[in-house]
Amino acid sequence: MSQTATPLSATPLSAPLLSAFTAAPVVPLVDTGDAGEAVAISRALLRGGLAVHEVVLRKPGAMDAMRAMAGRRAEIGEGLIVGAGTVLTLDQAKAARDAGAQFIVSPGLLDEIALWCIEEGLPVLPGTVTASEVQRAHALGLRAVKFFPAALAGGVPLLRALSAAFGAMRFVPTGGITAANLADYLALESVLACGGSWLTPAEAVAAGDYDAVTRLAREAVDTARAARG
Ligand code: 3PG
Repeated sequence: MSQTATPLSATPLSAPLLSAFTAAPVVPLVDTGDAGEAVAISRALLRGGLAVHEVVLRKPGAMDAMRAMAGRRAEIGEGLIVGAGTVLTLDQAKAARDAGAQFIVSPGLLDEIALWCIEEGLPVLPGTVTASEVQRAHALGLRAVKFFPAALAGGVPLLRALSAAFGAMRFVPTGGITAANLADYLALESVLACGGSWLTPAEAVAAGDYDAVTRLAREAVDTARAARG
């Protein structure tokens, strides 16, 4: 790859988050409103080697599910980092922080969320997909953003072009990432981690097949090791 990425230490993310991404640059989505289910998913992912879990606030009860995961972090497993995703408003970001979120992810870029998170020292990954959005995030002081919806927007070629223009920015592509294309995204040095729901299939969770979740996590860890060396 020709682009040169800024060192991880230059991003305004927490040290534990950065070292977890260095160990395994993959962020599985946890999409449930059931606290027991969330904890079971989290355990399964951690067993598979993935420590950074994003609970998306899409279903009723999702905030409580995240609170349960965050509150039981030590018991679920060492190194677990729990964040909130699909955060649409500043109030939601504040509630997520109060519920124990260690990072915030949004589908788009809202200045007030980004600025509040920077002020609070709470890592934030707002969604960006155009050069203007990335530039705006850069101007707000961010050096890491979500790239969403990655595959639909233009995938690796678009991300490569944005990375060339914004050498100081690191990206977390999500949206359409799968076991099959994970390595292609991780081949870009500007990619901090890849996120997605492919690691926590609704059918497996509904069937209580948490071993399947662990297997998918392990597979992603192996792919990441092969891609990153
Ligand atoms: C997100 O919010 O990050 C996306 O909905 C994830 O997309 P995916 O379901 O295609 O992984």
